[in-house]
Amino acid sequence: MTNIKNHSLVVPEHVSALQPYIPGKPIDDLVREFGLKPEQVVKLASNENPLGMPASAKRAIEQALGQLGRYPDPGGYALKQAIASQFNVPLEWVTLGNGSNDILELVSLALLVPGDAVVYAQYSFSVYRIATQARGARHIVVPACEYGHDLDAMFDAIDDQTRLVFVANPNNPTGTFLPAAAIERFMQRLQASFGERVTVVLDEAYNEYIDPKMRVDSVALVKKFSNVVVSRSFSKAYGLAGLRVGYGVSQPPLTNLMARVRQPFNVNALAQAAAIAALHDEDFLRQSAAVNATGKLQLENGFKALGLPYVPSYANFVLVQVGAKALDINQALLRRGVIVRPVGADGLPEWLRVSVGLETENAIFLEALTHVLAEALPEKLPEVLPK
Ligand SMILES: Cc1ncc(COP(=O)(O)O)c(C=O)c1O
Repeated sequence: MTNIKNHSLVVPEHVSALQPYIPGKPIDDLVREFGLKPEQVVKLASNENPLGMPASAKRAIEQALGQLGRYPDPGGYALKQAIASQFNVPLEWVTLGNGSNDILELVSLALLVPGDAVVYAQYSFSVYRIATQARGARHIVVPACEYGHDLDAMFDAIDDQTRLVFVANPNNPTGTFLPAAAIERFMQRLQASFGERVTVVLDEAYNEYIDPKMRVDSVALVKKFSNVVVSRSFSKAYGLAGLRVGYGVSQPPLTNLMARVRQPFNVNALAQAAAIAALHDEDFLRQSAAVNATGKLQLENGFKALGLPYVPSYANFVLVQVGAKALDINQALLRRGVIVRPVGADGLPEWLRVSVGLETENAIFLEALTHVLAEALPEKLPEVLPK
């Protein structure tokens, strides 16, 4: 235990040492700071769906409004049923979360005690660090390979205290993807060496952006291995980020443990109703994937034209290398009303993460970036200097 500076509160050291999550800058902040109108701001910072929420979900919310005087269904029966039937698993295998972030937290709450260790990759989702540290567990951060997970090195890094491994597929903030064979091999090796001592969270928040032919059949993995939790999100391709809803699929021993540490009513009534509608809205999902695919190409072509290295992405964002002046470039973009995500805190100080927007938003961003780079690095970009 430790005292917080200038304070008599006595708190666990692992909590006082925690660095909070850094979210994308909200549009309202930019409006206040730079005197812009909200409609002048383009936000490509939080991997949100540029189409907004599906109309089907909006209708479901309108219908559910009348029930808000009561608590939501504590077991989330209808939503769990919809998820379970989509994946052909028993209802008892589904855990609902306040965003898929909640699933990551629930697994760490259920499994970790201070002194345990958690393995995750360098340049992966920052919540793995928080979920580890908040439990007083030790971080084993494994160097990335080509900006993605090095599963062999992650396997080798597992020690006697390791209880949990986080694998993001696709990964955030780099957008890299691990094919099914690599994940299956990792799980096989893990089971052969450690049995059920080590649990894997396969975080698939961006799964729906992957070409269906390439997707990992992660539910088949759940059926085969009792030490894996697959987590999915309604915040990205389903367009429901503001409602906070996600889910995990795992076999009952793990599901039951998560149920013990879950906050009652962790998924609100509107989120449950909207998620059911979105889950069935195949047209919206297809449209989300299509808009993302063309928008991603637009961004990648823009980066190529500017001579900027980028990491080929399987998600709804692209990581682009703008150089040592990344923070200045970010600041200049903000002044022009464009919000992207600096990722220095993730160990990538020369890079920016840009979420895929609508065609017009991507074009506004690329034009702003061209101007900003020309001002910041005139020697590098003579050919794109504004006339
Ligand atoms: C890899 C990854 N996992 C999980 C999440 C959590 O998303 P949510 O809680 O909105 O479902 C995110 C959000 O950006 C993410 O990038």
